[in-house]
Formats: sequence, structure tokens, C-alpha cells
Amino acid sequence: MKILTIIGSPRKKGNSYLAVKELEEEFKNHNDYEFEYLFLKDAHLEICRGCFNCVSKGIDLCPLKDDRKTIHEKMEKSDGLVLVSPVYVMNVSALMKNFIDRVAYLCHRPAYHGKKALILCTSGGSGIKETLNYMEMIAGAWGYKVTSKCGLVTAPWPPTSSMEKKNTLNLEKSALRFHESLRSMKNNNDKKVSFKEYMGFLIFKNVSENVKKYMPADYDFYKNKDYYYPAKIGIITKIGARIILKILFFIMRDLGPRNDN
Ligand SMILES: Cc1cc2nc3c(=O)[nH]c(=O)nc-3n(C[C@H](O)[C@H](O)[C@H](O)COP(=O)(O)O)c2cc1C
Repeated sequence: MKILTIIGSPRKKGNSYLAVKELEEEFKNHNDYEFEYLFLKDAHLEICRGCFNCVSKGIDLCPLKDDRKTIHEKMEKSDGLVLVSPVYVMNVSALMKNFIDRVAYLCHRPAYHGKKALILCTSGGSGIKETLNYMEMIAGAWGYKVTSKCGLVTAPWPPTSSMEKKNTLNLEKSALRFHESLRSMKNNNDKKVSFKEYMGFLIFKNVSENVKKYMPADYDFYKNKDYYYPAKIGIITKIGARIILKILFFIMRDLGPRNDN
């Protein structure tokens, strides 16, 4: 199985890299995994210019021609993603944030359903929860199922042996969880969709219909879909979600475009 590791630290051989190396060793105990390391530090990724074309009109209209497409394809070709960032001032590094901005369209039009993700951050001790939660939300919006989260305390000074042990244990547990979720990947596309997942889909689909003039790429993506992939959706989920959607749209009616007719 192929695992793509995207590392957002500007320090190539820093704590984040060392943590993933240790994680890779753990994986070797479980199965035949092929790890690929992608350092955002070495990737040619321009800063997002904020034109919004990728989200509204489609990624082909992004004016920046760089490694964004190659990274997207690498994610497509791998079975699992390990998304890694050091905590910088209570959140991901700027390298990671720019990458997330550059693939903003994926939050509207997810492309990686059926794949699994492990989220990893290294920190001096604070901001772990915030950073992991943020990365989990983003990878989930891209379509990944986040099956493992790991926060390590790797301060800019030598760790105590007890902290070293804690980190190793944390890595071991996270690797095992991720490995088990990858092992059960078969037939993932038939799996039952949860109410929350279906609700998220319906919100995007309905918003894209309401604003199709402004967001044609989203409209084209959702128009013929009942869900992101062929899935079984229970009748109660379908009816319940539609009722809640109506209420939500009423409460949030001011967020839509002005009706000039
Ligand atoms: C600019 C900067 C900001 C940081 N902010 C935090 C922080 O908010 N909380 C924290 O606990 N550690 C913080 N740290 C420490 C790093 O998260 C920690 O040392 C991490 O392991 C570095 O990983 P790296 O070697 O892969 O870059 C910061 C470090 C830097 C350079």
C-alpha cells in the first residue's frame, strides 16, 4: 500500500520528519507499506493570489502553474495520507497553510473519498489539540476518513526520557490504528453514509444550486450526484436531512445572493 506523507516543516530534518521516520518504522512491523515523503519546503508552490477561480470556476483556471497539480495527483495515487505539521503559534506552519489554501477547491469538491488519513503534529507542548483538530477538519473536507491523530511533544530542547517514551507509545498506537483502518479499506465505497456526512453533502449540493451563476464548478460537480460516490443512504437519513436543510436554509437566508428579480 502506498502512503504519501506531506510534511509542512521548513526544517527538512526537523522534529516532524524524525517523527514520520519513526512512524514508518512502526508500519514496517505491520505490513508492506511504501512511504513517499513530500516536503512542502522543497515543493514549488506559489502563494495563493485570492482570485477564487479554483473554487468558483474550476482548478484549470488557477493562474499559478507550479507543483500543485503534481501533489494533487500524488494524493490520488496513494491509499493513505500522513499529513504532518509542526505547531507554529497554535496552528499549522505557513507552508502547510499555503498548501491548504492552494487546494481550497478540494473543500468544496472533495476528491479522496475512500482513502484514509493520519494527522500528525509536533509541538513544544501547546496548540496540539487546536492544530490536530484543524488538520482533521481539512483532510475530512478533502474526502479522507481521518482514522488516526497523533500529537507529539518535541520542544526545541532535549526531551526527558519519560517524554520520549510517551511519544514513542503515541506513535505506536497511531500507526496501529491507521494500519487497521487501511486494512479494512476494501468495499469502502458501499459503506453506509452517516447522517452528518449526508447532511454535509446536501448543504454543498443545495448551496451550489442556489449560487450556480457564481459557482459553476461546484454546480457541475454536484448536479448529477446523490452522494459523493455510489452509497447506500437510509430513508430516515434522507428525509431527516431534508427537513433540517430547509430549517437551516431559512435561518441562514441572508447568506445567499441577493435576488434582483
Ligand atoms: C515560529 C515557531 C512557532 C512555534 N509555536 C509553537 C507553539 O505555538 N506552541 C508550541 O508548543 N510550540 C511551538 N513551536 C515549537 C515547535 O512546534 C516544535 O519545536 C516542533 O517540534 C518543531 O518541528 P520541526 O522541527 O519539524 O519544525 C514553535 C516553533 C517555531 C519555530
